[in-house]
Amino acid sequence: MRIVVLTGAGISAESGLATFRGAGGLWEGHRPEDVATPEAFAADRGLVQRFYDARRAQLRTVAPNPAHHALGALEADLGDDLVLVTQNIDDLHERAGSTRVVHMHGELLRARCEACDGQPPWTDALIDEPACPICGVTALRPDVVWFGEAPYHMDRIQQELEDCDLFVAIGTSGLVYPAAGFVDWARRHGARTVELNLAPTDDEAFDESWAGPASEVVPTWVEHLRSPRAS
Ligand code: OAD
Repeated sequence: MRIVVLTGAGISAESGLATFRGAGGLWEGHRPEDVATPEAFAADRGLVQRFYDARRAQLRTVAPNPAHHALGALEADLGDDLVLVTQNIDDLHERAGSTRVVHMHGELLRARCEACDGQPPWTDALIDEPACPICGVTALRPDVVWFGEAPYHMDRIQQELEDCDLFVAIGTSGLVYPAAGFVDWARRHGARTVELNLAPTDDEAFDESWAGPASEVVPTWVEHLRSPRAS
């Protein structure tokens, strides 16, 4: 059985990373739209660099929660039959053992060079505008997909959605496209669809819905999936 799991900010909420649209979802007083756009970067490069520098530094203070660990364990069982597509730019899936992670909105721990298009791993701040380690030009930005930019890896994701038997959305509001359309796409190509969320979204495309905090619901769902009766 091939499985595509799509995760959103809700899976990292209990690790201490704010979601986008929930209460307390404002980042340091900024609306995401005010810092997560190419226009914002052009208008105030320092503000946007500082904003992502703070989020990159925050990563060192948080840890994966049982939901991330349960998905890491599931990959250890299923290997290539599991693909984890995430809208999150944190590295908590990787730190919980997942290796087949597709970061469709980019990664905090990479920079992108506007001169050479390289994507070097990056753990430090960008506010001092360091030179690109690949081409030497001073043109690094966070390697994150902003509003109005095309998400990464869409061809591969579309293929995985068409080929999967089970599509599972975890901790995502289903309000931001193209990810919001994945459930319909997978369903149209024959997949069973499951949602795990604090509260079910009212998306009728899901065949099944599990409500509760990810740190509890995801391990329970994974256990259910791994039990012989579930297959
Ligand atoms: P949202 O903030 O829109 O939604 C978070 C979802 O997680 C909501 O449906 C909550 O109900 C759910 N949730 C919150 N806490 C939870 C918990 N403890 N356990 C389970 N579920 C919980 O975040 P996303 O859907 O990830 O894009 O947002 C999608 C995209 O919008 C982001 O990747 C970002 C943003 O604009 C870009 O920056 C390009």
